[in-house]
Amino acid sequence: MNNNNGKKIIIEGPSVLKGKVDVSGSKNAVLPILAATLITDERCTVRNVPDLGDISTMISMLEILGKKVNRENSCVVIEPFKDLKGEAPYDLVKKLRASILVMGALAGRKNKIRVALPGGCAIGTRPIDLHLKGLRKMGAEISVSGGFVNLRSRGLAGATIYLDYPSVGATENLVMAACHAKGRSIIENTAREPEVMQLVDFLKEMGVRIEVSGNTLTVYESGKLKPVDFTVMDDRIQAGTYLVAGGINGSQVEIGFKDSWSLEAVIEKMIECGADIRTDTGGIYIKGPDALKSTEVRTSPYPGFPTDLQAPFISLLATASGVSVITEEIFESRYLHCAELMRMGAEIEIKGHSAIVTGVRGLSGAPVTAQDLRGGASLILAGLAAEGRTEVSGVYHIERGYENIVENLRNLGANIWEE
Ligand code: UD1
Repeated sequence: MNNNNGKKIIIEGPSVLKGKVDVSGSKNAVLPILAATLITDERCTVRNVPDLGDISTMISMLEILGKKVNRENSCVVIEPFKDLKGEAPYDLVKKLRASILVMGALAGRKNKIRVALPGGCAIGTRPIDLHLKGLRKMGAEISVSGGFVNLRSRGLAGATIYLDYPSVGATENLVMAACHAKGRSIIENTAREPEVMQLVDFLKEMGVRIEVSGNTLTVYESGKLKPVDFTVMDDRIQAGTYLVAGGINGSQVEIGFKDSWSLEAVIEKMIECGADIRTDTGGIYIKGPDALKSTEVRTSPYPGFPTDLQAPFISLLATASGVSVITEEIFESRYLHCAELMRMGAEIEIKGHSAIVTGVRGLSGAPVTAQDLRGGASLILAGLAAEGRTEVSGVYHIERGYENIVENLRNLGANIWEE
């Protein structure tokens, strides 16, 4: 993986943020939507696409699979170009785990496909058993050999599938597979993340009939599909990260994010920590408290507290008075950032799935290393809170998910730059 030649983000803290920040389109909504363009031979226009490495990787995947992709600023147009291929190569899948989302789309269209297995990553082993179990129920014969998943079928058949866990990726893969499965598919206990609903809306615009009832999705075999022009929602995890940053050092931040409903669990917790928050149709307004209060957080599938904001939230709680307990229920080893935060003076003890954070009076800047995307963002936030110079390396992790984070924080008054 490209390590951006040792690029570092430097923060001279402490910072008090003031002003307005906008966020880009949602990476986790765009990735499955790009994969879903493989379902159709019609032209697809996707707007509000963020300029991130992960998006470029997914675009390369679509090109390898036979699409022509035109990207102009935040607008991406996808059209058929060559015959649809059925093999997703390892060099792209290992770079971007989410590229396994092409599996569902391809499985509905090709009788034989091969998709490289992504393997684990820094936050856990991340199996794909639920994706495969669902595809088997739709009639695919699946074997794993040489690091690839091989799928064979004589066309998928609609099925009733119960997901043992509401996995975001499995829900997305299976909904896409169901679009070309014969008859009707009922998928129960699905993930309900707003990004999943964006995929459902995109497919509906394309002409797929999908009924949503609680956490059950009913997908009907599609006939002729239509060209689609879809604008993706803004990124709730980026917005949530700036919201948490607004809680640091009594900052005062306006986040230009109109879907504040999607961050309700986080807003509630920020209020418990003492923040003053107001929302309206234009955005979220936060005034951080003079002294943060400790709280308890448990991550869970939407509408619960998002696992992707667990790491930034721990940075906030590091200086909250009292003892906070954060329990990670989604990924088994998502605490790599804690050891780095402890280098900055945080007092954190990991016990099983929980991080017990005893608030300290202040953090001190230090050289630290990002080991995953959200953990990396948490180190930047800690650098804003800390006294002195923080140097964050492993910046390429952060750039996978945050467009212009350094520039955005500088515009809010932080003393931050790249070297
Ligand atoms: C997506 C998001 C990621 C977010 C996560 C949870 C994208 C590109 N990524 O990841 O940012 O942190 O949702 O909100 O949208 N699991 C299994 N078997 C499976 C599938 C999942 O055991 O077949 C487990 C995983 O190991 C994990 C949990 O289920 O412990 C949740 O994973 P899942 O919801 O699938 O997350 P992703 O789709 O990988």
